[in-house]
Amino acid sequence: MRIAVVGGGYVGLVSGACLATLGWDVTVIESNADRYRALCEGRIPIYEPGLAELVLANRESGRLVFADRIHGSVSGADAVFLAVGTPSRRGDGHADLTYVFSAADDVAHALTSSTILVTKSTVPVGTGRRLERRMRELRPDLAIAVASNPEFLREGSAIGDFMQPDRVVIGASSTSARAILEQIYEPLARKGIPIWITGLESAELIKYAANSFLAMKIAFINEIADLCEKTGADIAEVSHGMGLDQRIGARFLSPGPGFGGSCFPKDTQALARIAQEAGAPSRLVETVVAVNDARKASMAGRILAICGGSVRGKKVAVLGLTFKPETDDMRDAPSISIVHRLVAEGASVNAYDPEGVDQARPLLPSNVVYADSATAAISDADIVVLVTEWKEFSAINASELAARMRGNVVVDFRNVLDGGALKAAGLIYYAIGRTMPPAASEVWHPFGRHRLVALA
Ligand code: UGA
Repeated sequence: MRIAVVGGGYVGLVSGACLATLGWDVTVIESNADRYRALCEGRIPIYEPGLAELVLANRESGRLVFADRIHGSVSGADAVFLAVGTPSRRGDGHADLTYVFSAADDVAHALTSSTILVTKSTVPVGTGRRLERRMRELRPDLAIAVASNPEFLREGSAIGDFMQPDRVVIGASSTSARAILEQIYEPLARKGIPIWITGLESAELIKYAANSFLAMKIAFINEIADLCEKTGADIAEVSHGMGLDQRIGARFLSPGPGFGGSCFPKDTQALARIAQEAGAPSRLVETVVAVNDARKASMAGRILAICGGSVRGKKVAVLGLTFKPETDDMRDAPSISIVHRLVAEGASVNAYDPEGVDQARPLLPSNVVYADSATAAISDADIVVLVTEWKEFSAINASELAARMRGNVVVDFRNVLDGGALKAAGLIYYAIGRTMPPAASEVWHPFGRHRLVALA
């Protein structure tokens, strides 16, 4: 089976490397000259655990090759996957399909025999039908069937998500397209992975509905966490108790500073637009978008409240900047509004992130200082704010933290620190969805340091 993947970005590269691992001959086409050169030189332009090794192994076996143009790279392919970006269109939140249609046109012009065109990119319902019409228009001489095969890859665990997914969704209206995709995923079907075959429109909608549902779960648990703070309930206990109900499920019930990344914010907005235009508006999804935006914007306010209303002149250590751990992706990360507000309120920010600093720099105020370790960031900090739950942060030792800090406020937006140990070490600890510590006020510390004390 010969496969071409158009787009060597996150989805294209992971999918290409994994399809090669399934045993197929794959060409990944990347038209950006710098990215293409990097790939050819064995440099992977994104941080994704295990990806560099997988790409290398498949290149060495000859099953994965890179090309820099569609022309000459898709002829003879049994399937051509489109894995190009579908960013939010400025102004209206719709998915911008410019790259999809321009890549599809190039593919149509370059083909020398019939094939199937598969969208991996997240595309609005109806895009597959539009692509079918376009292919018929451009190449009436060929039979180009269109299919939808949405990806469900989480950054940071994308390879596992591709190789051991909960399901593979294939949307196709032609039997030939269905048969080829079934053959491609046969190695997964053999392992017992469900292959769910649907119509084109259903597959396209499954992707948006799944992402929006997960986003809704997060927005919901975040609201319940706020309620916990007001009522004395503990979100860890509540979330676990809810998740034990198999109808609800335990995953995606962790509270935090709001969801970010390249998918949930974009896909919830796009689904809201699709639903409005289809005449079936989704007030739930619209509310998820609004609630999450408001949450991200309000998180810095919590830090201020815990610090008695002001962070002016304070040194704040921010641990974790990326939208989630195990990625260098800063898109729509909650850290962005948090850091901007802290700086605007007169704090000096010392930030540390294991992978995201290069991506963070252009998005954060220029006076943010980037530490090269968590230890360096927290040294002499008045306030420590954990924004992204990188594994190394949960190993932070409470007494060492207390000793290194100048002040004593620790704000944990991911509930991963050992609150008991931090409190025992004399620190004021705030975690999401637990009773708020009383607002702190500044006192003169006997050893000549400014400390914040909780007001009883
Ligand atoms: C998401 C989906 O999980 C994938 O299935 C989907 O394929 C992908 O989007 C996509 O459309 O390409 P991703 O954005 O990589 O994957 O990351 P998630 O692990 O889903 O996290 C998204 C955001 O939700 C992060 O900001 C994370 O911190 C937040 N989150 C997640 C929570 O706040 N609580 C949770 O319980 C889970």
